[in-house]
Amino acid sequence: MTIQRPKGTQDLLPGTVEQWQYLEETIRTVCQAYGYEEIRTPMFEATELFQRGVGQTTDIVTKEMYTFLDKGDRSMTLRPEMTASVCRAYVENKLYGQPQPVKLYYMGPMFRYERPQSGRFRQFHQFGIEVLGADQPVVDAEVISLVWNLYQRLGLTQLEVHVNSVGCPTCRAEHRKQLQEFLTLRQGELCNDCQERFERNPLRILDCKNPSCQALTTGAPTTHDTLCEDCRTHFERVLVLLGAAGVVYRVNPRLVRGLDYYTKTAFEVMVEEIGAQSAICGGGRYDRLVEEIGGPPTPGIGFAMGLERVLAALQVQHQLPEEKPRLFAMLIALGEKAQNEGFALLSALRSQGMSVSMDLLGRSLKTQLKAANRQGAQIALILGEEELAQNLLLMRDLTSGEQIEIPLTEAVEEIKKTYQRGV
Ligand code: HAM
Repeated sequence: MTIQRPKGTQDLLPGTVEQWQYLEETIRTVCQAYGYEEIRTPMFEATELFQRGVGQTTDIVTKEMYTFLDKGDRSMTLRPEMTASVCRAYVENKLYGQPQPVKLYYMGPMFRYERPQSGRFRQFHQFGIEVLGADQPVVDAEVISLVWNLYQRLGLTQLEVHVNSVGCPTCRAEHRKQLQEFLTLRQGELCNDCQERFERNPLRILDCKNPSCQALTTGAPTTHDTLCEDCRTHFERVLVLLGAAGVVYRVNPRLVRGLDYYTKTAFEVMVEEIGAQSAICGGGRYDRLVEEIGGPPTPGIGFAMGLERVLAALQVQHQLPEEKPRLFAMLIALGEKAQNEGFALLSALRSQGMSVSMDLLGRSLKTQLKAANRQGAQIALILGEEELAQNLLLMRDLTSGEQIEIPLTEAVEEIKKTYQRGV
């Protein structure tokens, strides 16, 4: 039996990879404009980091982690997300000693043992940012406006930006109490998962996708109803600033995120057109997390977006560049002597930045010309025994069919001129 790739993973082949590169380049340009620097952390971390960081009651930690014992019997986990890793790196590398806030971005694969379906993978890719060391509402607004501006630049429409405040531990304790009181009589009718959540993390019941749980929680107290004075003022200020930045948003008091570290602002961006897995971005403030994993008290905020889902949205909305990067020239060398000469020319052209290919299979002129056309080459450079004897090279424009002879000694210069002029 042939070996297949693991369930929930993808091979990204040429033709698709160019779309990824386009998205990644656009992201880097926007991050630079906003003054963010890239961070790269290990693909796996001590399991305890995610247990403490993401939270013991979350689906990610209880059900979805790729955890293994290494040969030294240490429990390791493939990162399911990056926020905990970035906070660990911030503490371990004493980034709190640098001017604050520290503004970081990352891109890379994450791993969650989820049930694969359209838009949901076991290995997926996130782009995210984390701002550490600033608790002002203007930071929340800047972070959300970065997401908004990136999507505008990519040409995405039909976006729904949901924002909420999940409060701080003080107001959350009050919300928890009120929510449990509201649900006590209905507890038996909740789905199995929500019955478990009732004691451990009742807030997550508000986020259950099960229609009967959704019906049972209609009219339930939201985090919004119990915000303390500080959280309320913070949230109101964020909303004013979002308006000033031109972000079109909706306050969704039922928005609760699936990770335990959030405080105050939480947000998600949805594109319904891509199906059930419509969340293309999620994030929020996490003012306790750095301390939770052993660092000095440091506020933080960030988001992550699933690149597979962003690409799916761009595809549905016809916003992906169609063009494959084109080969400039195909060098067709016929015979051993011509191949020697051609090989030298190939290196010279490539070192000048031109993209040039040469047949490696010793095929006929006709077959090689066909291959050149198939690869979208703009010109063919033909070097046969006869041309070689006269110290010449034929340069053929593959669109018009026009052909000129150029002396071999001037070949690099002449070809470069054509390249710069554009064929
Ligand atoms: P998250 O909501 O778990 O948040 O994931 C963020 C985004 O990653 C989702 O909105 C979705 O686009 C994508 N995503 C998540 N799971 C999958 C999957 N199995 N397949 C495909 N895409 C997926 C976090 O990860 C937080 N660390 C975000 C954050 C950063 N909060 C503060 N800073």
